[in-house]
Amino acid sequence: MYRSHNNGELRLTNKNQEVTLSGWVQKTRDKGFLIWIDLRDRYGITQLIFDEERTDKFVFKNAKTLGREFVIQITGTVIEREAKNKNIPTGEIEILVTKLTILNKSEIPPFTIEDDTDGGEDIRMKYRYLDIRRNAVRENLIFRHRVSMEVRNYLSKEGFIDVETPYLIKSTPEGARDFVVPSRMNEGQFYALPQSPQTFKQLLMVGGIDKYFQIVKCFRDEDLRADRQPEFTQIDCEMAFVEQEDILNTFENLIIHLLKKIKGVKVEKFPRMTYDYVMKTYGNDKPDIRFDMKFGKLNEVVQHKDFGVFNVAELVVGIAVPSGNKFSRKEIDRLIKWLKRPQIGALGMIYVRCNDDGTYKSSVDKFYNQEDLAKWAEITNAKKGDLICVLSGDANKVRTQLSALRMELATQLGLRDPKVFAPLWVVDFPLLEWNEETNRFHAMHHPFTSPKLEDMELLKTEPAKVRANAYDMVLNGNEIGGGSIRIHDKKTQEMMFDYLGFTKAEAEVQFGFLMNAFTYGAPPHGGIAFGLDRLVAILGGQETIRDFIAFPKNNSGRDVMIDAPAKIDTKQLKELHLKLDL
Ligand code: AMO
Repeated sequence: MYRSHNNGELRLTNKNQEVTLSGWVQKTRDKGFLIWIDLRDRYGITQLIFDEERTDKFVFKNAKTLGREFVIQITGTVIEREAKNKNIPTGEIEILVTKLTILNKSEIPPFTIEDDTDGGEDIRMKYRYLDIRRNAVRENLIFRHRVSMEVRNYLSKEGFIDVETPYLIKSTPEGARDFVVPSRMNEGQFYALPQSPQTFKQLLMVGGIDKYFQIVKCFRDEDLRADRQPEFTQIDCEMAFVEQEDILNTFENLIIHLLKKIKGVKVEKFPRMTYDYVMKTYGNDKPDIRFDMKFGKLNEVVQHKDFGVFNVAELVVGIAVPSGNKFSRKEIDRLIKWLKRPQIGALGMIYVRCNDDGTYKSSVDKFYNQEDLAKWAEITNAKKGDLICVLSGDANKVRTQLSALRMELATQLGLRDPKVFAPLWVVDFPLLEWNEETNRFHAMHHPFTSPKLEDMELLKTEPAKVRANAYDMVLNGNEIGGGSIRIHDKKTQEMMFDYLGFTKAEAEVQFGFLMNAFTYGAPPHGGIAFGLDRLVAILGGQETIRDFIAFPKNNSGRDVMIDAPAKIDTKQLKELHLKLDL
């Protein structure tokens, strides 16, 4: 028996008991005649004491050889500590050791395995297994486990069936590039790793499964960010015989349940906002609504004065920054500089100080009087003491820039409280999105999404205006899930591929299997997929998903621990019928 108890378990009530513990040496304090060791495992830390007078000579000598991260097993007696540590649950006791076995030695670890480690990100990723010994990382992994178990239990109770779908498949067009796998047995042919199980879950509906879910790995070869990994996990779901309303209600309830169970937070029904509304109001399709700062369109009240910049702009739009009048000139200049960085690309910013006495002071006082500025304040909902920030130019660009400013200011002002949860649905997404590079329409969600029946007529005349039965769930400024009601008849699906620029032959080769399935009695169906990594990170009060993944990739898509991707040898290349001309 390696242990009778774990290292987080023993209390004063265990006094005088003989116990056996195992774990890692976190810290040693050697006073010459007394040695204290903090013994760590997943459950906590227990203090061990070796006393020259009370401990066997051989054991005492052995204790002197222990280094950080040695794996040991001890037997000893639980005694009351003289100096109690109120900060840890085992802080009232220590173990007077009678027997010590070194189970394994350890090299000196490349960074300290403490909450405040001296190891940078790179070194911690290279030795991720050591990083996982740290409280923060371990707690994140346990937290993820709790969330995914809760999801599983909830969906299973709701009648969803967990079905596994294959990883070696043919490309699914979700908008990113595929990772491909060469086939040894089929020369010159490749599998693609799924960007999502989209087509399979639809086929499960044709198969009569009715309610499907899967917590599943997805693979997308796209540029990485804090909220993106090349392989990530979805809570993928699909239902048959449903309308959009059914899906929204079902999965809203899942998230309400999670917030309550995991965070103890009670949220009411989620607001629903249309894509058009959120773009105009927040400049963004995943708005953070924990705070206000809604966009106010100022075109009507600012144009036709003498300020040329505003007169030629497609959109003039402002936000009221709460208590922003306290910003110094220097701070405002810093904001403007921040906006002008190439990443944001604004040309400048006009601002209005809303003084406490009800007067205004703007950076364009030459062109606008107090009455004009009062209108700006009314439209942006600015109060005394606020600062109105105004940007102008091309509508799409300006919205993106002001949205970035809104988020930056909210962060600076501490309005993005990780303990507050503000979920919402964004609905009525456009079906199609113009792609400048390919010069044609792409499906905004994916090609299997059904257009709104009432907009079908517009497909021929104004395709950009056609709305889809597609929806995203947004939580605290992050898209945590997205889905749609699907097309379930062959004719509409064929028409969709046609709009998306597929020839009949291409559509047949790529998606013939799905369209064929639609001819054998496909039920109306729809679904959604949540990003589990994102959901867990946000519930955990953070936005970097890497911290919630046991073995994540770095920003260049590398696993620095196993050093992947890597070259393969010539023999393997040959078997796979691959020739590299490098
Ligand atoms: P979508 O592409 O919107 O929909 O993906 C669903 C959710 O997955 C998460 N996500 C990611 N998380 C981490 N890293 C990534 N690279 C990444 N990409 C996406 C997001 C997103 O909301 N098949 C459809 C779902 C459906 O229609 O049912 C799909 O995959 O949180």
